[in-house]
Amino acid sequence: MSGEFSKVIFSKEGGVASIVLNNPSRYNALELELRRELRRALEEAARDDEIRVVLVRGAGGNFSAGADIRAFLEWDPAKCVSIANEVGTSMVLANIIRSMQKPVIAVVEGYCLGGGFELAMSCDMIVAAEDAVFGQPEINLGLIPGGGGTQRLARLVGEKKAKQLVMTGDRISARELEKMGVVNIVVPRDKLEEAVKELVEKLLSKPRMALAAAKEAVNLALETGLLAGLRAELMLFASLFATEDQKEGARAFLEKRKPVWKGR
Ligand code: COA
Repeated sequence: MSGEFSKVIFSKEGGVASIVLNNPSRYNALELELRRELRRALEEAARDDEIRVVLVRGAGGNFSAGADIRAFLEWDPAKCVSIANEVGTSMVLANIIRSMQKPVIAVVEGYCLGGGFELAMSCDMIVAAEDAVFGQPEINLGLIPGGGGTQRLARLVGEKKAKQLVMTGDRISARELEKMGVVNIVVPRDKLEEAVKELVEKLLSKPRMALAAAKEAVNLALETGLLAGLRAELMLFASLFATEDQKEGARAFLEKRKPVWKGR
């Protein structure tokens, strides 16, 4: 592993990487050093072929209370842009998450506010404890979400709900977000690990080239126009016919047995 971590806990086991935001006395606020380590951990997870699923979560019972408000006293526009270019959620961290060819799951309990919510929304799926609390409270600090919040929320929940959340700064529950299609799975807190395990095992059991193509194709649905997206989908679909796993999948179906994936 390249370099040591202290503000995140990075571990890997059985094909699954776990990246834990580790600043619990400040509700895992995204301080600069934590962001830098998070970027490094995500890059490591993207690079490592043994890692097939990535979990992002917070230490101490909360996901994250968002950007480091203490640092905001010192920021001016130039500083803001410089940090965004280095470790911002919208352009840098989200790009690493969305371009890595494996699923990244946000596991959310407790507070998931501001940049924390933006980070969770950048992940491929969100599994949350029933008592998790989400929101974009930046308006109460004289700000707006700056890590992709306005753009991702509007795409996920539509203009009206996005404006309501961003303009009021109101908090919203995991259950409500589940109904709105932002959170995938909501369970009581004591069932969270079980729900994550079940989802991870399901993903680990899938052929990895197809899984990567599925992620990329759906990403494109949000990042490009329909025609370009449909063309890209067709190319990704066609490319899978060159994989051994595609032939194995068809053969196993016809022979009425379980497929044995090779990952190529
Ligand atoms: N940045 C920096 N420090 C933060 C923080 C943040 N985003 N969120 C919490 N903290 C710090 C608090 O300043 C406090 O530090 P202290 O112990 O040195 O005083 C500590 O974490 C505990 O927070 P506190 O507010 O006392 O706890 P609480 O249980 O009353 O409330 C929250 C918890 C998460 C609801 C509340 O801290 C909060 O609203 N945080 C900010 C959320 C936000 O606006 N995020 C968007 C940022 S752009």
